[in-house]
Amino acid sequence: MSPPGTPAEYFDDMYAGAEDPWSFETRWYDRRKHDLTVACLPRRRYRSAFEPGCSTGMLTRRLAQRCDRLLAVDIAAAPVASTRQRLADQPHVRVERMRVPDEWPVGADRFDLIVLSELGYYFDDAGLDLLTARTVDSLEPGGTLVAVHWRPAVAEHARGGDDVHRLLDDVDGLVRTARHEEADFLLDVFLRVPPPARSVAQAEGLW
Ligand SMILES: C[S@@+](CC[C@H](N)C(=O)[O-])C[C@H]1O[C@@H](n2cnc3c(N)ncnc32)[C@H](O)[C@@H]1O
Repeated sequence: MSPPGTPAEYFDDMYAGAEDPWSFETRWYDRRKHDLTVACLPRRRYRSAFEPGCSTGMLTRRLAQRCDRLLAVDIAAAPVASTRQRLADQPHVRVERMRVPDEWPVGADRFDLIVLSELGYYFDDAGLDLLTARTVDSLEPGGTLVAVHWRPAVAEHARGGDDVHRLLDDVDGLVRTARHEEADFLLDVFLRVPPPARSVAQAEGLW
């Protein structure tokens, strides 16, 4: 049977108890992980990126430096307000309240980067299926998906990080081109295929 997804109230309660409940703003562990995440991006610049589950915008701030446009969303109102404040000097970044995957960005344009960072383990099977399907549909051909997830078991999570990445590995239309693996987290880079996936050096014309 599918594990139940984490209810929306869980996140409101977390943010009612603390402005930065996961200590993203102060923990060196997360600063390093966010640095690794942007370091793994296979393109120097992105035209239009989507970051669901942005929390207080610590990763958003780093992504903003690599994107011409960035849409960051979160299910809870408090982190949306924090992220808006943090990115107030970055007019190319839009921050909205949105509950993915039932709600999803509208518009004809597809993204060339989607970032699922510490998000996939909150969904039941149907929710994660829809999240990955919408992610694939919304990525332009050759676009990048970066997924990063904590591996140890957490009571409030519907599944482990390894499970999320195992599922992503099997999604039609995605090919994994890089993996950073530690005891704490997995960081995978996927490309939307077709066209056939190319390495960073191939894309730069080095071979
Ligand atoms: C653990 S934090 C990760 C923050 C950020 N992505 C990072 O890696 O630093 C998860 C965030 O996802 C948000 N979230 C959870 N479920 C969501 C959903 N269905 N739609 C949008 N945001 C969601 C939570 O409110 C929380 O801010």
